[in-house]
Amino acid sequence: MKKMQLEICCGTTCYMLGANRLLNIENEMPSHLRSHAVVKASACLGLCGNRDLAGAPYVKLNGEVIGEATPEKIFSRMQALLEE
Ligand code: FES
Repeated sequence: MKKMQLEICCGTTCYMLGANRLLNIENEMPSHLRSHAVVKASACLGLCGNRDLAGAPYVKLNGEVIGEATPEKIFSRMQALLEE
């Protein structure tokens, strides 16, 4: 199975609105998800200028935007992708 690509936005807006809490997400990630994921930090994904800032922090999972990202929200979506 191809690994899921998780990009954590570390641009200023996202960082200030919670992405700082996501930088160590691999440490919290359940092992069955971690083994199927590649996590990387990203410069501004270009979403904060087009959308309501309340949507930050943003991440992309296989190119799909997840707003107001929390570990729980990200893990839930990763689990769903694994089950597809
Ligand atoms: S800082 Fe995250 S989308 Fe711009």
